[in-house]
Amino acid sequence: MIGKQGRQWRSICKGLVLGTLLTSCMILLYCLSAPQVQLNLQEVPVPYSCAHRPARTLQVSNSSQISLGLTGTCTPKVDVMFMKTHKTASSTLLNILFRFGEKHRLKFAFPNSRNDFFYPSLFQRSQVKDYRPGMCFNIICNHMRFNEPEVVKLLPSDTTYVSILRDPAELFESSFHYFGRLAPFTWKISAEDKLAEFLQDPWHYFDPEGYNSFYLKNLLFFDFGFDNTMESDDPRVDESIRSIAERFRLVMLVEYFEESLILLKDTLCWEMDDLLFFKLNARKGSTVSRLKPELRAQALEWNGIDWKLYQHFNATFWRKVDVYGRQRMAKDVEELRRRNKEMAAICIEGGQAVEAGSIQETAMQPWQPIGEKSIMGYNLKKNIDKKHRKLCRKMLTPELQYLTNLGVNLWITRLWGYVRDVINW
Ligand SMILES: *[C@@H]1O[C@H](CO)[C@@H](O)[C@H](O)[C@H]1NC(C)=O
Ligand SMILES: *[C@@H]1O[C@H](CO)[C@@H](O)[C@H](O)[C@H]1NC(C)=O
Repeated sequence: MIGKQGRQWRSICKGLVLGTLLTSCMILLYCLSAPQVQLNLQEVPVPYSCAHRPARTLQVSNSSQISLGLTGTCTPKVDVMFMKTHKTASSTLLNILFRFGEKHRLKFAFPNSRNDFFYPSLFQRSQVKDYRPGMCFNIICNHMRFNEPEVVKLLPSDTTYVSILRDPAELFESSFHYFGRLAPFTWKISAEDKLAEFLQDPWHYFDPEGYNSFYLKNLLFFDFGFDNTMESDDPRVDESIRSIAERFRLVMLVEYFEESLILLKDTLCWEMDDLLFFKLNARKGSTVSRLKPELRAQALEWNGIDWKLYQHFNATFWRKVDVYGRQRMAKDVEELRRRNKEMAAICIEGGQAVEAGSIQETAMQPWQPIGEKSIMGYNLKKNIDKKHRKLCRKMLTPELQYLTNLGVNLWITRLWGYVRDVINW
């Protein structure tokens, strides 16, 4: 009996020591691989456009554009900056962009060795894989902390900037669930419902200087490169929102994802085919807590800047929908939903997402938050007809695997995942 207990303790201790060692190694590697700030990077202008072939006009044969009496010609935009915000269905959008990029053989500005541009440090163009001054890149879409002057120097001047926002209360809840454990100040919250406890008196727990604290206050505003700890009535907040509005042609909303994609198609002159998607990286329903009105109000107050940001772009979003035409929008959304459903029937075993434990292929296994297996994934159907096989696989491939397929070396991310597997975190 004692022997057994002793063995158990020894194995726990061994686990702890191993875990500590590996984590230290990881942190060291992370630091070593941190971007070298190259202050004297040469400034060679990139061409006006990086479209690498003569402008091709889109055949809008049966598109609603004709029914609107438009000429029916526009040129698909291939130079795109997608500002990927956190917890905003942006993995699904990345999948769309990856497929579009592959279809048109576009050049992505990817990060090196990991799946983001050294977030949360501000973006530097020297972080781009194989970057050389004056080089032409079409698309950039991995996580970054937006740094306008650097991004502008990287991309051609005809680049279309787009991004996506989500209701800040829902986003906060999601971020708390997904990243809460990464911010040490949450460790001392003892209550069962940590989120409610935190929102009762956030300043009691929150430490603006604390490690990873940005995940838990105005994360959207932080992602756009601004100071997330300002008071929401600080004049610099409005100024920053104005600068985002000037730079970004389209800011989509997660809550109206299909409508957003239709506006994206309209902005970039894409085809409906380009928009087909399955929801990737979605959280298991059982762990998604619905925010009660009181909690929601507290979350919005705590994330006051993001709430302002959201309201601003909610207004511009619906103005865009009005310009597009409400009826036309409803019709297009219906078509997109129908076609997605058709694709789901063709590609997905059982027609819907399943829990991580039920995913058979490792290549289809999504990345999980620390300490959980709450992110759902898919099983690819067997015996898919030849015409759809490739597309199905691409549509279902999680972000990290897709990045690897596109030639991004993710050794830091992979090693970190391996360490987590070993210590079972
Ligand atoms: C376009 O519309 C016409 C008439 O509505 C139809 O006969 C034709 O098949 C459609 N073409 C495509 C490519 O959907
Ligand atoms: C977003 O805009 C719509 C249309 O103007 C409005 O009805 C809705 O209440 C707004 N939502 C938010 C969260 O501000």
